[in-house]
Amino acid sequence: MAQRFDVVVIGAGPGGYIAAIRAAQLGFSTACIEGWVNAKGELALGGTCLNVGCIPSKALLSSSEEFEKVGHHVQDHGISVGDVKIDVAKMQARKDAIVTKMTKGVEYLFKKNKVTWLQGFGTLVAGGDTYRVRVGESEVEAKHVIVATGSKVRQLPGAAIDNENILDNVGALALPSVPKRLGVIGAGVIGLELGSVWRRLGAEVTVLEALPKFLGAVDDAVAKEAWKQFAKQGLKISLGVKIGKVASSRKGVVVEYADEAGAAQKLECDKLVVSIGRVPNTDNLGADTVGLKVDNRGFIEVDDHCRTNLPNVYAIGDVVRGPMLAHKAEDEGVMVAELIAGQKPHIDYAAIPWIIYTSPEIAWVGMTEQQAKAEGRKVRTGQFPFSVNGRALGINEPVGFAKVVVDDATDRVLGMHIIHARASDLIQEGVTTMEFSGAAEDIARIVHGHPTLSEVIREAALATDKRSLNM
Ligand code: FAD
Ligand code: NAI
Repeated sequence: MAQRFDVVVIGAGPGGYIAAIRAAQLGFSTACIEGWVNAKGELALGGTCLNVGCIPSKALLSSSEEFEKVGHHVQDHGISVGDVKIDVAKMQARKDAIVTKMTKGVEYLFKKNKVTWLQGFGTLVAGGDTYRVRVGESEVEAKHVIVATGSKVRQLPGAAIDNENILDNVGALALPSVPKRLGVIGAGVIGLELGSVWRRLGAEVTVLEALPKFLGAVDDAVAKEAWKQFAKQGLKISLGVKIGKVASSRKGVVVEYADEAGAAQKLECDKLVVSIGRVPNTDNLGADTVGLKVDNRGFIEVDDHCRTNLPNVYAIGDVVRGPMLAHKAEDEGVMVAELIAGQKPHIDYAAIPWIIYTSPEIAWVGMTEQQAKAEGRKVRTGQFPFSVNGRALGINEPVGFAKVVVDDATDRVLGMHIIHARASDLIQEGVTTMEFSGAAEDIARIVHGHPTLSEVIREAALATDKRSLNM
């Protein structure tokens, strides 16, 4: 007899494992199917995020940032250091240890919450009152199914990923030494973050981007400042390119491309990272067998509450519409488990923060000034630099600014945009304000500790009314 569960979750990334934990907390008998095998050949929970995404990339970003600081910035404090070296193997071992701690942490959480881990990949084999899901040789029955199968790298035709010369995120996070010349195709989040890691460690990094506009989703003022800072750091970025033939050999990779003016160019590099977006994992899921609707790009079709076209089947995270972000996947996981329990949760998709962990970091929530204006809204904006903030000067991070976009008539905050070394932590004030339908005046009237970087947010809010106090 097949094992029966109230809830079966397919995939244990941040969407799936959080959904499973929440479902178990709510009293459902819950199983989570996951067959991820890591580089050590071990089965691991945690999905892309914990194994080859958010967590390892942030570990390497931090190591490379320390290296750059010691080599170039601690001198400003009067500290002198000798020859600065990087032991890449040790840096990678530190990253791997963090990943193991986190993925084992999910195993612990499953045990603690009595979530059954079904090891292997799941395929939907029958629908009806209950669903049947095959895992390896056996089948389980589920009253409710949550599909959380995530995403994988989008392939560039003619540039097959071998993770030797041509790398996706997996290879780019695991390089055993610093390549002399690193090529990157795609100046999106992965290209900029991983390009930054290897540039800081000494690689000559060239990024080729198809679109003529840099960081198109980001507020124009922030994108302009980012462009200036990245150029200063020596990250070479070419926009508006058209990639041609990519040839890989023992000597490295040669990328032929047409530049913005249409002239033929060649990029010779030792390693090439392909980071041109990600595609949903819906192959071999059995969607057709049970009649689960998948759109022409491979995403499972869902409504605002992650309900699919099939009763009691939900889909969350990277495999459905919306930003491919871990926190979005997690919150959808919680929402769906609570829906199954008959609660009335919802997600405010307009208030999901984005963070790019470059130096400086770029973070935003809500609308850019340009988006708001394109919608025909009358807005006011306020901008304030970190260069006159005492705390920013103290920590030697004076670069960047915060920008607040408000509705002209109501003063309600429509968006917040920050470019600064600590933007990732600061953006949460914008998220909270927007969730509470707050106004710039609210931020301005809230006491902000001194000296803190958060004072810049308050000054930017005051600037929407032309009453900054410190400038
Ligand atoms: P995933 O994490 O992809 O997990 C899906 C899981 O499902 C996988 O473990 C897979 O093995 C499993 N699976 C697939 N098919 C089946 C099947 N048939 N049966 C069983 N299991 C299956 N996001 C952020 O918010 N912040 C960041 O800093 C960040 N950094 C990133 C850095 C990199 C290099 C990358 C690649 C991504 C990053 N992301 C970041 C994005 C983030 O990793 C994803 O948005 C997030 O992992 C999506 O979660 P998910 O649960 O939907 O899918
Ligand atoms: P992306 O969508 O951020 O960027 C891809 C870039 O490649 C775009 O600028 C696109 O115009 C360009 N591109 C597409 N086709 C191209 C071609 N043929 N030639 C040249 N350029 C081309 O995707 P990326 O960087 O691969 O990351 C995938 C997703 O993973 C992100 O969108 C994000 O959702 C998530 N992620 C989030 C992070 C974070 O939150 N800090 C970090 C890393 C990834």
